[in-house]
Amino acid sequence: MMAKRVGVIGSGVVGRVLADGFLRHGYEVMIGSREPEKLADWKQRGGERASLGSAAEAASFGDLVVLAVKGTAAERAVELCGPAALAGKTVIDATNPIAEAPPDHGVLRFFTTLDESLMERLQRLAPEARFVKCFSSVGNALMVNPDFGGQLPTMFICGDSAEAKSKVAEVLQQFGHEPCDMGGVQAARAIEPLCILWCIPGFLRNEWTHAFKLLRQ
Ligand SMILES: NC(=O)c1ccc[n+]([C@@H]2O[C@H](COP(=O)([O-])OP(=O)(O)OC[C@H]3O[C@@H](n4cnc5c(N)ncnc54)[C@H](OP(=O)(O)O)[C@@H]3O)[C@@H](O)[C@H]2O)c1
Repeated sequence: MMAKRVGVIGSGVVGRVLADGFLRHGYEVMIGSREPEKLADWKQRGGERASLGSAAEAASFGDLVVLAVKGTAAERAVELCGPAALAGKTVIDATNPIAEAPPDHGVLRFFTTLDESLMERLQRLAPEARFVKCFSSVGNALMVNPDFGGQLPTMFICGDSAEAKSKVAEVLQQFGHEPCDMGGVQAARAIEPLCILWCIPGFLRNEWTHAFKLLRQ
């Protein structure tokens, strides 16, 4: 059975876009924020299936949880959710470890290394949560049912729980992406930097309307 209650941790553009996508696909959605009152307009637009709360409340509410906070605050946000509230739950991790420094020639800087991803840090903080990296390598405007003339973009995902990845794959099919499983949590070391690559045409040429596609023979 697909989860029908989603807790979205994050009040930024990604949190709101994904929350709207889940509403559109029939889910009940609670957005968790340190200042939920700033989302009163979103709640009003969303109707009776939209609600607001703290990070801990949204984490408890969701059968499925989405983490969509600033990368530098992701570990703090997991602590605010409470690792116990995330235990056994699928957690879609859309975060990227972008450092507080400007891009270099259009190339973002990360605060992680290629030997340890942000999602591995999060998984250690909440060992019983089932993190799945997803939505980190495409712009928010292309996260929910993007129009590429009938072609489905590839969404690279990874995580240690096969069951959680299969739930996320169902969400991706609804949201118009082709899921591509890259393995366990360590594969986030390769998926997170795709964000750097994705952003380069944006920073250099103001092009933000592309998505990745894996071709197979
Ligand atoms: N923008 C995109 O198109 C895009 C695409 C793919 C992935 N991503 C990734 O998705 C994540 C969200 O991006 P975004 O552009 O929506 O917004 P953002 O500005 O990166 O993040 C906003 C969120 O971060 C939370 N936050 C900031 N500082 C915090 C702190 N000290 N403690 C706890 N929470 C804190 C805010 O929480 P409050 O609600 O409590 O204020 C808010 O929910 C990022 O990791 C980003 O790299 C972004």
